[in-house]
Amino acid sequence: MHEAARRFGTPLYVYDAAELDAALGRVRAAFRDTRVYYAMKANPNLHLLRRLLAAGVGFECVSAGEIARAEQVGAAGERLIVNGPAKSAEEYQAGARLGATFIVDREEEVGLLPPGSRALVRVNPALEVSTHDHLATGAAQSKFGVSLAQVPGVLAALRAAGHTALGLHVHIGSAIRNADDFTAAFGRLRDLRAVTGPLEVLDAGGGWGLDADLGGIAREAHAAAAHFGAQLWVEPGRYLVAQAGTLLTQVVGTKHTGRDFVLVDAGMTELLRPMLYGAQHPVTALWEGRGQSVWDVAGPACESGDLLARAVTLPAPRPGDLLAIGEAGAYGAAMSSGYLTRSRPAEVLWTGEAWQLLRRRETPQDVWAAELTPEESQSAGY
Ligand SMILES: Cc1ncc(COP(=O)(O)O)c(C=O)c1O
Repeated sequence: MHEAARRFGTPLYVYDAAELDAALGRVRAAFRDTRVYYAMKANPNLHLLRRLLAAGVGFECVSAGEIARAEQVGAAGERLIVNGPAKSAEEYQAGARLGATFIVDREEEVGLLPPGSRALVRVNPALEVSTHDHLATGAAQSKFGVSLAQVPGVLAALRAAGHTALGLHVHIGSAIRNADDFTAAFGRLRDLRAVTGPLEVLDAGGGWGLDADLGGIAREAHAAAAHFGAQLWVEPGRYLVAQAGTLLTQVVGTKHTGRDFVLVDAGMTELLRPMLYGAQHPVTALWEGRGQSVWDVAGPACESGDLLARAVTLPAPRPGDLLAIGEAGAYGAAMSSGYLTRSRPAEVLWTGEAWQLLRRRETPQDVWAAELTPEESQSAGY
């Protein structure tokens, strides 16, 4: 880690190839005979996508940009799902051109799908689940999916419109630790069997917490698919990449107000999850001894909420010391921003033998690249 920081600077996203392979291995071991679609929103780095595609994984895309990334790495047809609660005309067209399967999120979408589409219907099982409110997607009041009562009508409408209604999709949220939540969701779906009849596909989504009982979730998902006589598909994002990623940040200094702060060179612009979801990431000091005390880890943004962690026990920090923020491979770099004209960090991969630069650190010019000069603005003609 020290070598990576020296060579590439900080803040820096560091990925471990062995960890990436291990996570996919665990998924494959738990979910046999299952098609795996990586929810690329978790980390859309093209290099990671190429690795996963080569390992036989497909992609779930939720924007025109993500579809373009899939196309860029050569994914199409059976390797592609296009999802989203408010798809644009561009997304339908690009998905159709690449032969993707669409996930229908509302009844009106049946009339918007390109002719002859293959589609799954996203079901909202109306369940409260054990995760942060902003990460729950299967509650009755959430914006996702169609109600259980609407499912037969939407399947019938798809068929009547000449589309292929492959089956059902359910995704109840993210970072869910309690396997019982999945059991409950699959249970609600199973109740639909009497009205849907057998189906070709059951897509059980993703959302698996890093310490969730993967074997238990897999067993329940397989049982639900078998109940419909369906093939099982899954869409993990976080599980496949979170543990392989570390955000490396450097101590800038310390400050003592009502609390004791260690100020570091990464913050909400590099890792938004603590601020957005109250997410707790493991924080490891990469320096030796010198006593132990409790610190809040604060970033450089002029925002009170710009904290990466609260109340972590660390040896006395000095400028230049390195902190490793763990489990940062998912929704870390992906959610980094150019707010404050901060340059998004570089991303590097440890292959086991060497460091490989996957994405260079942005420059300020990269951040304002789409902004026009006065002359360009004049001639843009709006
Ligand atoms: C439909 C769908 N599938 C899969 C995922 C991946 O979730 P996770 O990264 O928690 O596995 C998401 C995340 O938002 C999603 O919305």
